[in-house]
Amino acid sequence: MSNFQFATNPNLIVGIETSDDAGVYKISEEIALVQTVDFFTPVVDDPYVFGQIAAANSLSDVYAMGGMPLTALNIVCFPKDDLPIEVLSLILEGGNERVTKADAVVAGGHSVEDKELKFGLSVTGKVHPQKIKTNNFAKIGHKLLLTKKLGTGILATTIKRGETTDKIVDEIVASMIELSEPAAKAMEKLSDFVSACTDITGFGFLGHAFEMAKGSSVELEINSLAVPIFENLYDFASQNKFLTMGNVTNRAYVGANVEFCKGFDEVYKRILFDPQTSGGLLIAVESQKVDDFRKLFFEFGGSLIEEIGFIKGFAEDGKIFVR
Ligand code: CO
Ligand code: CO
Ligand code: CO
Repeated sequence: MSNFQFATNPNLIVGIETSDDAGVYKISEEIALVQTVDFFTPVVDDPYVFGQIAAANSLSDVYAMGGMPLTALNIVCFPKDDLPIEVLSLILEGGNERVTKADAVVAGGHSVEDKELKFGLSVTGKVHPQKIKTNNFAKIGHKLLLTKKLGTGILATTIKRGETTDKIVDEIVASMIELSEPAAKAMEKLSDFVSACTDITGFGFLGHAFEMAKGSSVELEINSLAVPIFENLYDFASQNKFLTMGNVTNRAYVGANVEFCKGFDEVYKRILFDPQTSGGLLIAVESQKVDDFRKLFFEFGGSLIEEIGFIKGFAEDGKIFVR
Protein backbone atom coordinates (compact mmCIF):
# COMPACT_ATOMS: atom_id res chain seq x y z
CA MET A 1 0.00 0.00 0.00
CA SER A 2 1.14 3.51 -0.74
CA ASN A 3 0.84 6.38 1.70
CA PHE A 4 -1.69 8.09 -0.52
CA GLN A 5 -3.90 10.64 1.21
CA PHE A 6 -6.74 12.69 -0.19
CA ALA A 7 -6.01 16.37 -0.54
CA THR A 8 -7.56 18.63 2.05
CA ASN A 9 -9.46 21.91 1.75
CA PRO A 10 -10.13 24.48 4.48
CA ASN A 11 -13.85 24.41 3.71
CA LEU A 12 -14.05 20.65 4.12
CA ILE A 13 -15.07 20.52 7.79
CA VAL A 14 -15.66 16.76 7.90
CA GLY A 15 -13.61 14.63 5.51
CA ILE A 16 -12.99 10.93 5.20
CA GLU A 17 -10.33 10.52 7.89
CA THR A 18 -12.78 10.31 10.83
CA SER A 19 -15.01 7.56 9.29
CA ASP A 20 -18.03 9.77 9.82
CA ASP A 21 -21.46 9.36 8.24
CA ALA A 22 -21.05 12.04 5.60
CA GLY A 23 -18.71 14.72 4.34
CA VAL A 24 -19.43 18.33 5.26
CA TYR A 25 -18.33 21.32 3.19
CA LYS A 26 -18.75 24.87 4.43
CA ILE A 27 -20.34 27.30 1.96
CA SER A 28 -20.75 30.28 4.28
CA GLU A 29 -20.91 31.08 8.00
CA GLU A 30 -24.56 29.96 7.97
CA ILE A 31 -24.59 27.02 5.57
CA ALA A 32 -22.58 23.84 5.07
CA LEU A 33 -23.40 21.03 2.64
CA VAL A 34 -23.69 17.47 3.93
CA GLN A 35 -22.96 14.83 1.27
CA THR A 36 -23.23 11.06 1.37
CA VAL A 37 -23.62 8.04 -0.90
CA ASP A 38 -24.65 4.44 -0.28
CA PHE A 39 -26.00 1.60 -2.41
CA PHE A 40 -26.47 -2.13 -1.97
CA THR A 41 -28.14 -5.33 -3.15
CA PRO A 42 -31.81 -5.98 -2.21
CA VAL A 43 -32.56 -6.83 1.42
CA VAL A 44 -36.25 -7.62 0.78
CA ASP A 45 -38.14 -9.13 -2.18
CA ASP A 46 -40.57 -6.25 -2.77
CA PRO A 47 -38.90 -3.76 -5.18
CA TYR A 48 -40.91 -0.73 -3.98
CA VAL A 49 -39.99 -1.46 -0.37
CA PHE A 50 -36.35 -2.02 -1.34
CA GLY A 51 -36.38 1.46 -2.87
CA GLN A 52 -37.82 2.89 0.33
CA ILE A 53 -35.21 1.17 2.50
CA ALA A 54 -32.32 2.29 0.31
CA ALA A 55 -33.56 5.88 0.43
CA ALA A 56 -34.17 5.92 4.20
CA ASN A 57 -30.69 4.43 4.66
CA SER A 58 -28.98 7.10 2.56
CA LEU A 59 -30.99 9.94 4.08
CA SER A 60 -29.99 8.69 7.52
CA ASP A 61 -26.35 9.70 7.03
CA VAL A 62 -27.42 13.33 6.52
CA TYR A 63 -29.62 13.22 9.64
CA ALA A 64 -26.75 11.63 11.59
CA MET A 65 -24.68 14.76 10.94
CA GLY A 66 -27.47 16.96 12.27
CA GLY A 67 -28.42 18.01 8.73
CA MET A 68 -31.63 18.16 6.71
CA PRO A 69 -31.69 16.58 3.23
CA LEU A 70 -32.25 18.75 0.16
CA THR A 71 -31.62 16.66 -2.97
CA ALA A 72 -30.95 13.04 -3.89
CA LEU A 73 -29.45 11.29 -6.92
CA ASN A 74 -30.36 7.70 -7.76
CA ILE A 75 -27.62 5.12 -8.34
CA VAL A 76 -28.80 2.06 -10.23
CA CYS A 77 -27.07 -1.17 -11.29
CA PHE A 78 -29.66 -3.16 -13.21
CA PRO A 79 -29.66 -6.58 -14.94
CA LYS A 80 -31.94 -5.62 -17.82
CA ASP A 81 -31.84 -9.05 -19.44
CA ASP A 82 -32.88 -10.85 -16.27
CA LEU A 83 -35.47 -8.52 -14.73
CA PRO A 84 -38.46 -6.68 -16.21
CA ILE A 85 -38.03 -2.91 -16.33
CA GLU A 86 -41.13 -2.54 -14.11
CA VAL A 87 -38.98 -3.73 -11.21
CA LEU A 88 -36.73 -0.72 -11.67
CA SER A 89 -39.72 1.61 -11.89
CA LEU A 90 -41.02 0.31 -8.57
CA ILE A 91 -37.61 0.68 -6.89
CA LEU A 92 -37.35 4.29 -8.07
CA GLU A 93 -40.94 4.94 -6.98
CA GLY A 94 -40.23 3.62 -3.48
CA GLY A 95 -37.08 5.72 -3.22
CA ASN A 96 -38.93 8.80 -4.41
CA GLU A 97 -41.63 8.27 -1.79
CA ARG A 98 -39.10 8.40 1.08
CA VAL A 99 -37.12 11.31 -0.39
CA THR A 100 -40.36 13.28 -0.75
CA LYS A 101 -41.41 12.34 2.78
CA ALA A 102 -38.08 13.79 3.94
CA ASP A 103 -39.00 17.12 2.24
CA ALA A 104 -36.16 16.58 -0.23
CA VAL A 105 -36.34 16.01 -3.99
CA VAL A 106 -34.84 13.54 -6.47
CA ALA A 107 -32.69 15.63 -8.79
CA GLY A 108 -31.44 12.92 -11.13
CA GLY A 109 -29.33 9.82 -11.14
CA HIS A 110 -27.37 7.35 -13.19
CA SER A 111 -27.83 3.70 -14.15
CA VAL A 112 -25.50 1.05 -15.53
CA GLU A 113 -26.13 -2.50 -16.62
CA ASP A 114 -24.90 -5.03 -14.09
CA LYS A 115 -25.41 -8.75 -13.45
CA GLU A 116 -26.50 -8.02 -9.90
CA LEU A 117 -29.22 -5.53 -8.98
CA LYS A 118 -28.04 -2.69 -6.74
CA PHE A 119 -29.71 0.53 -5.74
CA GLY A 120 -28.92 3.49 -3.56
CA LEU A 121 -28.77 7.24 -3.45
CA SER A 122 -26.33 10.06 -3.04
CA VAL A 123 -27.97 12.63 -0.78
CA THR A 124 -27.04 16.26 -0.27
CA GLY A 125 -28.30 18.14 2.75
CA LYS A 126 -27.60 21.32 4.64
CA VAL A 127 -26.59 22.09 8.19
CA HIS A 128 -25.56 25.17 10.12
CA PRO A 129 -21.76 24.91 10.52
CA GLN A 130 -22.13 25.37 14.31
CA LYS A 131 -24.65 22.53 14.56
CA ILE A 132 -22.77 19.72 12.82
CA LYS A 133 -22.84 16.46 14.81
CA THR A 134 -19.80 14.29 14.25
CA ASN A 135 -18.79 11.02 15.89
CA ASN A 136 -15.58 12.37 17.47
CA PHE A 137 -16.66 14.84 20.16
CA ALA A 138 -18.62 12.63 22.57
CA LYS A 139 -18.39 14.26 26.00
CA ILE A 140 -17.74 12.46 29.27
CA GLY A 141 -20.92 12.23 31.35
CA HIS A 142 -23.30 12.42 28.39
CA LYS A 143 -25.99 9.74 28.07
CA LEU A 144 -26.31 7.55 24.98
CA LEU A 145 -29.66 7.31 23.21
CA LEU A 146 -30.57 4.82 20.46
CA THR A 147 -33.56 5.31 18.16
CA LYS A 148 -34.18 1.92 16.50
CA LYS A 149 -34.22 -1.74 17.48
CA LEU A 150 -31.29 -3.98 16.56
CA GLY A 151 -31.52 -7.17 14.51
CA THR A 152 -32.23 -6.27 10.88
CA GLY A 153 -29.14 -8.17 9.64
CA ILE A 154 -30.07 -11.47 11.26
CA LEU A 155 -33.76 -11.07 10.43
CA ALA A 156 -33.08 -10.13 6.80
CA THR A 157 -31.13 -13.39 6.59
CA THR A 158 -34.27 -15.28 7.64
CA ILE A 159 -35.84 -13.82 4.50
CA LYS A 160 -32.93 -14.97 2.32
CA ARG A 161 -33.12 -18.46 3.84
CA GLY A 162 -36.88 -18.59 3.26
CA GLU A 163 -37.48 -19.11 6.97
CA THR A 164 -39.16 -15.88 7.89
CA THR A 165 -42.73 -14.87 8.76
CA ASP A 166 -44.84 -12.00 7.43
CA LYS A 167 -44.82 -10.48 10.89
CA ILE A 168 -41.01 -10.34 10.98
CA VAL A 169 -40.85 -8.85 7.50
CA ASP A 170 -43.42 -6.21 8.43
CA GLU A 171 -41.58 -5.31 11.62
CA ILE A 172 -38.12 -4.91 10.14
CA VAL A 173 -39.44 -3.12 7.04
CA ALA A 174 -41.31 -0.59 9.20
CA SER A 175 -38.08 0.08 11.07
CA MET A 176 -35.80 0.21 8.01
CA ILE A 177 -38.01 2.68 6.10
CA GLU A 178 -38.46 4.95 9.11
CA LEU A 179 -36.71 8.28 8.65
CA SER A 180 -34.37 9.56 11.35
CA GLU A 181 -35.79 13.04 10.86
CA PRO A 182 -37.39 13.34 14.35
CA ALA A 183 -34.03 12.68 16.02
CA ALA A 184 -32.25 15.12 13.70
CA LYS A 185 -34.83 17.84 14.44
CA ALA A 186 -34.49 17.25 18.19
CA MET A 187 -30.68 17.49 17.81
CA GLU A 188 -31.05 20.78 15.98
CA LYS A 189 -33.23 22.24 18.76
CA LEU A 190 -30.94 21.03 21.53
CA SER A 191 -27.74 21.34 19.56
CA ASP A 192 -25.70 22.79 22.44
CA PHE A 193 -26.44 19.72 24.56
CA VAL A 194 -25.67 17.02 21.96
CA SER A 195 -21.97 16.15 21.71
CA ALA A 196 -21.94 13.36 19.10
CA CYS A 197 -24.09 11.32 16.76
CA THR A 198 -23.76 8.50 14.26
CA ASP A 199 -26.13 6.02 12.66
CA ILE A 200 -25.97 2.27 13.13
CA THR A 201 -25.35 0.45 9.85
CA GLY A 202 -22.91 -2.16 8.51
CA PHE A 203 -20.46 -2.23 11.44
CA GLY A 204 -23.31 -3.05 13.81
CA PHE A 205 -24.16 -1.33 17.08
CA LEU A 206 -20.80 -2.01 18.73
CA GLY A 207 -18.79 -1.21 15.59
CA HIS A 208 -20.32 2.24 15.20
CA ALA A 209 -20.32 2.87 18.94
CA PHE A 210 -16.63 1.99 18.92
CA GLU A 211 -15.93 4.50 16.15
CA MET A 212 -17.53 7.13 18.36
CA ALA A 213 -15.46 5.97 21.34
CA LYS A 214 -12.23 5.90 19.35
CA GLY A 215 -12.83 9.21 17.57
CA SER A 216 -13.69 10.91 20.86
CA SER A 217 -11.02 9.11 22.97
CA VAL A 218 -13.63 8.01 25.51
CA GLU A 219 -14.93 4.88 27.15
CA LEU A 220 -18.62 4.05 26.68
CA GLU A 221 -20.54 1.91 29.10
CA ILE A 222 -23.45 0.06 27.53
CA ASN A 223 -26.34 -1.44 29.47
CA SER A 224 -27.24 -4.28 27.11
CA LEU A 225 -30.58 -4.94 28.81
CA ALA A 226 -31.72 -1.46 27.79
CA VAL A 227 -30.78 -1.92 24.12
CA PRO A 228 -33.99 -2.35 22.10
CA ILE A 229 -34.15 -5.50 19.91
CA PHE A 230 -36.80 -7.07 17.68
CA GLU A 231 -39.17 -9.66 19.06
CA ASN A 232 -38.10 -13.28 18.37
CA LEU A 233 -34.62 -12.05 17.44
CA TYR A 234 -32.95 -14.01 20.22
CA ASP A 235 -34.11 -17.38 18.83
CA PHE A 236 -32.80 -16.62 15.36
CA ALA A 237 -29.57 -15.13 16.70
CA SER A 238 -28.86 -18.38 18.53
CA GLN A 239 -28.77 -20.27 15.20
CA ASN A 240 -25.54 -20.10 13.19
CA LYS A 241 -27.30 -20.24 9.83
CA PHE A 242 -28.73 -16.75 10.30
CA LEU A 243 -25.42 -15.09 11.09
CA THR A 244 -23.89 -12.81 8.48
CA MET A 245 -20.23 -12.48 7.58
CA GLY A 246 -20.45 -8.97 9.02
CA ASN A 247 -21.00 -10.41 12.46
CA VAL A 248 -17.53 -11.97 12.31
CA THR A 249 -15.73 -9.02 10.71
CA ASN A 250 -17.35 -6.51 13.08
CA ARG A 251 -15.92 -8.36 16.08
CA ALA A 252 -12.50 -8.46 14.51
CA TYR A 253 -12.78 -4.75 13.78
CA VAL A 254 -13.32 -3.67 17.40
CA GLY A 255 -11.04 -6.37 18.83
CA ALA A 256 -10.12 -6.16 22.48
CA ASN A 257 -11.35 -2.56 22.77
CA VAL A 258 -14.83 -3.89 23.46
CA GLU A 259 -15.03 -5.69 26.78
CA PHE A 260 -18.01 -7.67 28.04
CA CYS A 261 -18.81 -8.28 31.68
CA LYS A 262 -18.02 -11.74 33.01
CA GLY A 263 -20.31 -14.49 31.71
CA PHE A 264 -21.91 -12.24 29.10
CA ASP A 265 -24.35 -14.14 26.85
CA GLU A 266 -22.81 -15.17 23.50
CA VAL A 267 -26.12 -14.82 21.64
CA TYR A 268 -26.45 -11.27 22.88
CA LYS A 269 -22.97 -10.51 21.58
CA ARG A 270 -24.15 -11.59 18.14
CA ILE A 271 -27.05 -9.17 18.38
CA LEU A 272 -24.81 -6.27 19.38
CA PHE A 273 -22.46 -7.00 16.46
CA ASP A 274 -25.24 -7.61 13.91
CA PRO A 275 -24.75 -5.40 10.82
CA GLN A 276 -27.78 -3.15 10.37
CA THR A 277 -29.43 -1.73 7.30
CA SER A 278 -30.94 1.71 7.88
CA GLY A 279 -30.44 1.41 11.64
CA GLY A 280 -31.14 4.06 14.24
CA LEU A 281 -29.11 7.00 15.46
CA LEU A 282 -26.78 6.74 18.44
CA ILE A 283 -26.77 10.13 20.12
CA ALA A 284 -24.75 11.50 23.05
CA VAL A 285 -26.88 13.96 25.06
CA GLU A 286 -26.16 15.92 28.25
CA SER A 287 -27.83 14.01 31.09
CA GLN A 288 -30.07 16.85 32.32
CA LYS A 289 -31.42 17.29 28.78
CA VAL A 290 -32.34 13.66 28.07
CA ASP A 291 -35.99 14.13 29.07
CA ASP A 292 -36.31 17.25 26.93
CA PHE A 293 -34.70 15.41 24.04
CA ARG A 294 -37.11 12.50 24.27
CA LYS A 295 -40.07 14.85 24.50
CA LEU A 296 -38.99 16.73 21.37
CA PHE A 297 -38.25 13.46 19.56
CA PHE A 298 -41.82 12.23 20.10
CA GLU A 299 -43.28 15.66 19.23
CA PHE A 300 -41.45 15.48 15.91
CA GLY A 301 -43.04 12.07 15.22
CA GLY A 302 -40.39 9.68 16.49
CA SER A 303 -41.53 6.24 17.65
CA LEU A 304 -38.76 4.71 19.75
CA ILE A 305 -35.86 6.09 21.75
CA GLU A 306 -34.02 4.35 24.57
CA GLU A 307 -31.24 5.39 26.92
CA ILE A 308 -28.72 2.58 26.57
CA GLY A 309 -25.56 3.79 28.28
CA PHE A 310 -23.28 6.73 28.93
CA ILE A 311 -19.83 8.14 28.34
CA LYS A 312 -17.82 6.94 31.27
CA GLY A 313 -14.41 8.52 30.98
CA PHE A 314 -11.26 9.11 29.01
CA ALA A 315 -9.76 6.26 26.94
CA GLU A 316 -7.12 7.29 24.44
CA ASP A 317 -7.84 4.59 21.80
CA GLY A 318 -11.53 4.28 22.60
CA LYS A 319 -13.13 1.59 24.71
CA ILE A 320 -16.53 0.06 25.32
CA PHE A 321 -17.62 -1.83 28.39
CA VAL A 322 -20.81 -3.85 27.96
CA ARG A 323 -22.73 -5.13 30.96
CO1 CO B 1 -23.71 6.25 8.63
CO1 CO C 1 -23.44 5.40 5.02
CO1 CO D 1 -22.79 12.36 12.92
